[in-house]
Amino acid sequence: MIVKHLKKLKEEADSYYKQTGLPFVVLKSAMTLDGKIATSTGDSKWVTGETSRHHVHELRHIYDGIMIGVETAIKDRPQLTTRLPDGNGRNPVRIIADSQLRLPLDSPLVDTSEAQTWVLCTDKADMEKEKRLTGYGVNVLRTGKGSRVELRKAMKKLGENGIQSILLEGGGQLNWSMLEASLVQKTMIFIAPKLLGGKNSISPISGEGFTRMGLAVHLDKLSIERFDEDICISGYPIYIKVEK
Ligand SMILES: NC(=O)c1ccc[n+]([C@@H]2O[C@H](COP(=O)([O-])OP(=O)(O)OC[C@H]3O[C@@H](n4cnc5c(N)ncnc54)[C@H](OP(=O)(O)O)[C@@H]3O)[C@@H](O)[C@H]2O)c1
Repeated sequence: MIVKHLKKLKEEADSYYKQTGLPFVVLKSAMTLDGKIATSTGDSKWVTGETSRHHVHELRHIYDGIMIGVETAIKDRPQLTTRLPDGNGRNPVRIIADSQLRLPLDSPLVDTSEAQTWVLCTDKADMEKEKRLTGYGVNVLRTGKGSRVELRKAMKKLGENGIQSILLEGGGQLNWSMLEASLVQKTMIFIAPKLLGGKNSISPISGEGFTRMGLAVHLDKLSIERFDEDICISGYPIYIKVEK
């Protein structure tokens, strides 16, 4: 059953998918007040408090997929399952952007007994590793001939395979690539009242970044919610085609 306050979120995702055939992608990140999602050593447990994290599990329950980059899979060893107090959460399909199939075989994501795992890689990825992953029930989708997963192609393929909505949980590099490709339809940034510092700490959106302030992606229809000590700012990116 979908909790009442989540119904609207699901409806906007369904409507976008119906119009485009592409998944509605929600970039969700949890950062400190000084804009860090993890320390320079990769530690990120936990940035936000319990109430925020509970809400994220509600989001996992309503969206079809949850997507991360392979660095997050390696560093955090996440399960990416839905853990709600009543135990009735629906698990989204776990989607990993992993061009060369670096996902370790002992990763909790390779255990597909509770939830499905789909790995996006390129044509160059090792066939032997693919065989081993598929042996564990992992679905491997080749989307790209270059050095990295071609994200627009990947979204098309995911849409064709019935993934109508995705909660994009980063990290910074994948978030940047998805935003740069105009593939993010909504952002939800949770901000915890903490200061972490560190020039090598990781930010929610890293990659190359835009080179001019004028190129920054603006967010429309902002809303602000409180989750105990944390604040969540949601918005909808406006993509404008400009010469770089
Ligand atoms: N607080 C939070 O909300 C939160 C959420 C998530 C993660 N984190 C933290 O973020 C850190 C990891 O972030 P990260 O930025 O280093 O890595 P990331 O975004 O998790 O993963 C990046 C990797 O994804 C693969 N990838 C495949 N196709 C890609 C594409 N088109 N564009 C970009 N990447 C692509 C690349 O590896 P290949 O080239 O091998 O494919 C790339 O190195 C961890 O420390 C984790 O704890 C925090």
